[in-house]
Amino acid sequence: MAVIQDVLKDKVIVITGTTSGIGKCMAQVFAQQGAKVVGSGRRENLGEEVAAGIRAKGGDSIFIRTDATDPDQVRNLIDTAVTHYGRLDMLVNNCAWEPQILLKDLTWEQYQKVMNTNLGSYVMATVNALHYMIPQHYGRILNINSVTMEQIVPGVGVYSMAKAAVHNLTKTVALEYARDGIRCNEICPGLIRAGAFEDPKNVEWAKDSIENGTPVPRLGEPEEIAYAALYLLSDKADFCNDATLFVDGGRRLI
Ligand SMILES: NC(=O)c1ccc[n+]([C@@H]2O[C@H](COP(=O)([O-])OP(=O)(O)OC[C@H]3O[C@@H](n4cnc5c(N)ncnc54)[C@H](OP(=O)(O)O)[C@@H]3O)[C@@H](O)[C@H]2O)c1
Repeated sequence: MAVIQDVLKDKVIVITGTTSGIGKCMAQVFAQQGAKVVGSGRRENLGEEVAAGIRAKGGDSIFIRTDATDPDQVRNLIDTAVTHYGRLDMLVNNCAWEPQILLKDLTWEQYQKVMNTNLGSYVMATVNALHYMIPQHYGRILNINSVTMEQIVPGVGVYSMAKAAVHNLTKTVALEYARDGIRCNEICPGLIRAGAFEDPKNVEWAKDSIENGTPVPRLGEPEEIAYAALYLLSDKADFCNDATLFVDGGRRLI
């Protein structure tokens, strides 16, 4: 049987939002595959725990406390990764905030926080990463998007708007920087056992939607996103640029 091994050997990779969920799982899987993982997020104790867990298994990882809505902290994240490891090969934009707010109730402050977390942080991390990737003529940028970029659900409209814009961010990078050795792709998860769905009460609440709203009638697992990401970051996906990989059990079909 073929074994997946060392797919990201010695690649320096920054991930936003490694303190929980899909980001945490990606950090662990990428480190198992030989990457030097720079994790980030606001909950320092959780992020340090993830990085320490990776080091305890012989991997290489640091955590940099970052509020991704603050462009200075995002710049610091990218700069510190390069100072520590000497280069930056890959960026995975993953952090998110998905509040349940009907459009009629939305405040300007909530709008700004949703946009800054789900879009602004992706844009500014990308801009700062490009400054290092272009001169080295190598870079892989992966955006964790969502099936909701095209499937609107009541109460998460503003999050969906930000995710739709991430789709065009992916296109912009893929078009403008391919000749600089940079590839940009995105993954659109469906309902995954992470974030709100880490809580069994929410899974029970969404049972009908999970079972009847998805052709594959179950939640996806964070590892199923991490391995899709592993492929898109690997050199085997060198001809993928502006790829959108739905990992959603076919959810958008219903
Ligand atoms: N779970 C799903 O069903 C699902 C479905 C579709 C798409 N997705 C996408 O998958 C990605 C991961 O989501 P998840 O489900 O794993 O959610 P999660 O467990 O809630 O993780 C979100 C991560 O984002 C970080 N984050 C949030 N606000 C931040 C900020 N201001 N600054 C820095 N980090 C921040 C959090 O860290 P701190 O709180 O420590 O800052 C956390 O590590 C997101 O892009 C989400 O849109 C998830």
